[in-house]
Amino acid sequence: MSLKKVEIIELLTQTNAEELYQRADKIRHENVGDEVHLRGLIEFSNICRNNCLYCGIRKGNAQVVRYHMSEEELIETARKAANIGFKTIVMQSGEDMYYTADKMCRIIEAIKKFDVAVTLSIGERTFEEYKSFREAGADRYLMRIETTNKELYHQLDPQMSWQHRYDCLMMIKDLGYELGSGIMVGLPQQTIESIAEDLLFLQKIGIDMAGIGPFIPHPNTPLANEKGGTLELALRTMAVMRIMMPDINIPATTAMESLHPQGRIKALKAGANVVMPNVTEGEYRKFYELYPGKICVNDTPIHCRSCIGMKITSIGRTIGNGFGSHIKKN
Ligand code: 5AD
Ligand code: FES
Repeated sequence: MSLKKVEIIELLTQTNAEELYQRADKIRHENVGDEVHLRGLIEFSNICRNNCLYCGIRKGNAQVVRYHMSEEELIETARKAANIGFKTIVMQSGEDMYYTADKMCRIIEAIKKFDVAVTLSIGERTFEEYKSFREAGADRYLMRIETTNKELYHQLDPQMSWQHRYDCLMMIKDLGYELGSGIMVGLPQQTIESIAEDLLFLQKIGIDMAGIGPFIPHPNTPLANEKGGTLELALRTMAVMRIMMPDINIPATTAMESLHPQGRIKALKAGANVVMPNVTEGEYRKFYELYPGKICVNDTPIHCRSCIGMKITSIGRTIGNGFGSHIKKN
């Protein structure tokens, strides 16, 4: 549905929150049904060449215990996740150049044999690399634009270029990946108007998936003393996204649950239809700390799978057993 900027701002600020959530929930039900699609998230490396001010694994944070999984370890983690029923494997990492294109392609080819959809979330790469990952079998790619306010982006992501990130998103789309993007809300100096522009941008570029999470200040970053986003603003933004893009996939994000123990359930009742449980094993979970208060750091893949499964069925929803791809209706 097309909304004007003023209408988006009204929904984000004036409309009764419960009414907004119910409206988004109804649109979700009518367009993508009651199935919730689970994606097993593997956090396979916290090594990153970038220095984003908000991010706990930024290069400049010397307090992080750095790790990357070996090729075999990553494939084995994916195999176990597929065995416990995940139909999508999301591989996420910092921008770690240890994973050359050849290495990534070998990993993708191995994981595709487990009959799963493969999503990559490994940041900015060259067109040739994106192309080789796609040819190796990768189905989807996640990369948030974070904010469409270019000045703010350049302040928060020094050495990076907003235009380059945008160009990467376009390459990914052109290569036929399902494209996931999204933003953080509650960034320092971010206005409601800017969030409305972000939503219009995501709609215009035609994303297949939108991840929206609150910014949570990390103590070992330059933004340690900033305020952070609220769960309400994140939920409202997500609900408006659902109204604007009725048939896309929208995850209940982990950052939402980090702000409130029922954050993901609230999100599932306000427009979301996807959850990405962590399937990383052992200590790696706590070392992959993008923001503080991250949930499930001491849990196991099987525990998270059954925990979230129970939460989902307790609200009368079912767990999807297909790949849960974006099916365009409009
Ligand atoms: N708070 C919330 N989300 C964060 N991310 C990174 N750092 C933080 C933080 N401090 C999000 C970014 C990134 C995604 C993987 O995690 O939006 O794209
Ligand atoms: Fe990990 Fe609930 S999802 S413990």
